Order: sequence, then C-alpha cells, then structure tokens
Amino acid sequence: MTDISDGAVPSGELVLSLRGVSKNFGAVSALTDIDLDVHAGEVVALVGDNGAGKSTLVKILAGVHQPTSGTVTFRGAPVTLSNPSTALNLGIATVFQDLALCENLDVVANIFLGRELNPLKLDETAMEVKAWTLLNELSARIPSVRIPIASLSGGQRQTVAIARSLLLEPKLILLDEPTAALGVAQTAEVLNLIERVRDRGLGVVMISHNMEDVRAVADRIVVLRLGRNNGVFYPDASNQELVGAITGAADNSVSRRAGRRQAQSDITQEGQI
Ligand SMILES: Nc1ncnc2c1ncn2[C@@H]1O[C@H](COP(=O)(O)OP(=O)(O)OP(=O)(O)O)[C@@H](O)[C@H]1O
Ligand SMILES: [Mg+2]
Repeated sequence: MTDISDGAVPSGELVLSLRGVSKNFGAVSALTDIDLDVHAGEVVALVGDNGAGKSTLVKILAGVHQPTSGTVTFRGAPVTLSNPSTALNLGIATVFQDLALCENLDVVANIFLGRELNPLKLDETAMEVKAWTLLNELSARIPSVRIPIASLSGGQRQTVAIARSLLLEPKLILLDEPTAALGVAQTAEVLNLIERVRDRGLGVVMISHNMEDVRAVADRIVVLRLGRNNGVFYPDASNQELVGAITGAADNSVSRRAGRRQAQSDITQEGQI
C-alpha cells in the first residue's frame, strides 16, 4: 500500500485537493477526514463497498452537498461549492449515475439542455456542428445527432452524457459508475473515451465497483471504507490488496477466492515454462 505522498507523483498540475473533508447527515458520519488529490491528465478511481461514501464525496464536489468540515482547493484556491452551478462554472463537471438525459429529445438537444442561457446563444445549426465536434473529438460512435436518446444503446447514452459534460470545458470531470450497466464492448468504448478525456488534460474521478475497469483505466486507485480513506494504490496492486482495503479484512472469502485463482494461474504458468 502506498501513501498519498509516496510513489510515482503524477506530473500534471494539481487540479483538486481535499483535506480533512467530513460530512455528517444528522447522526450518520458519511465521510470522515477525507484527503484526495487529482492532477490534470490523471484518472483517479474511487472505490469502496456500498455505503463507503463515494457518491457523497462526488456530490460534495458537484455542489449538491456541503461538507460539514474540511477544505476543498480547486486549481490552487480554496473554494466553497455552495450549489451545482458554482461547481459547474468553476470547471467541475459531473456525470451522475442516472445520466439525467431526456429520452424524447435528440442528441443535440440533450447536449445543450439547460444551457440556453449560454452567452454564445447558438442556433440549431451551430449547436449541431458543436455537438458533432464534441462527439468526434471523443471518437464517439453515434449514428446521428438528430435521433432521440431513447433509441441509443447504454454506451451511446453514456457517451452523450460525457460529451454534454465537456461543453463548458471543465478541468475536472466526475463519473459515477460509468460502466455499471454496460456490456463488454460498450464498456471498452466508454473506457477508451475516458482515456481520451484524460488525454485532453482533464482530471478524471471515476467511481466503479468493477476492479477490471478500474485497473484498465486508472492511474491511481483511492479506496474509501466506512467513510474514511483506506489506502491509495496503483493499477499493479494485487486483487488481494485491493479487496483487503475495500473490505477491511486481508483474509475474507473474496480475497481467498482471488488468492486461489492467482495461485492456480501461477501453477499453470509454471507448467508452461
Ligand atoms: N442524504 C442522505 N441522508 C442521510 N444519509 C445519507 C445520505 N446520503 C448518504 N447517506 C449515508 O451516507 C453513507 C454513504 O453513502 P454513499 O451513498 O455516499 O455511499 P456509496 O459509497 O456511494 O455507496 P454505493 O456503492 O452503494 O453507491 C451511507 O451510510 C448512507 O446511508
Ligand atoms: Mg453511490
């Protein structure tokens, strides 16, 4: 296990820094004393069991909840994210798990939804061009920008939601379970898309329960357990280490199974040599 200050320090600018962030809902301590750093051009995976506090942390960064204590520093300055538009205008975009897209509206309308007060006051043609540009930059496979969201696949919807979040040119993008409902091929497409967002120099925070997806795309893996930091890992960490940090037990049935599988594959590999 590596501490936040150890190991390969990412080279990009420090975009986001949380220190000692706590959040209580009445008597419930959802988060206690959380530290988190995200750099430009870095994907940080936020992992943890159900109720670990992942969504609460994302909602604090999205301006939906206010922390009970602690500091949030964004691009070098302490910030108060008192509501979602403050977070958005600062450059923090969030793709929530339910995506918040309108099924009956087309792709262009969804990308520009709620942005009618955009000072650019784009017309339909300009909006269509901008929508295509955003989707092309992500190498997105959308058949047409004039079809309703209802006729797109889950992966395509996720793509539209991510394109929409890039409209205001954020510095940080938060993705809550972007691959949870997707099949194998669509998951691969969304992971590619996350890499392209990172390559544009954005900081990315991705919540996921899927360790395979996390390993495939994350530069660092931040574990929360019962609302507290419980380790920072790199993608080469073993399943046992990760599962141990997530569950709080180095020896449990999940890590034992992972360990057995690893041992079996070691034996198989030895047999091949
Ligand atoms: N609005 C709220 N009011 C009261 N308690 C809440 C509220 N939101 C979250 N909690 C509590 O805070 C804790 C953390 O919840 P959170 O939703 O952040 O977990 P999570 O890590 O996102 O879990 P999951 O993987 O199941 O989505 C839980 O105990 C939850 O019941
Ligand atoms: Mg959650």
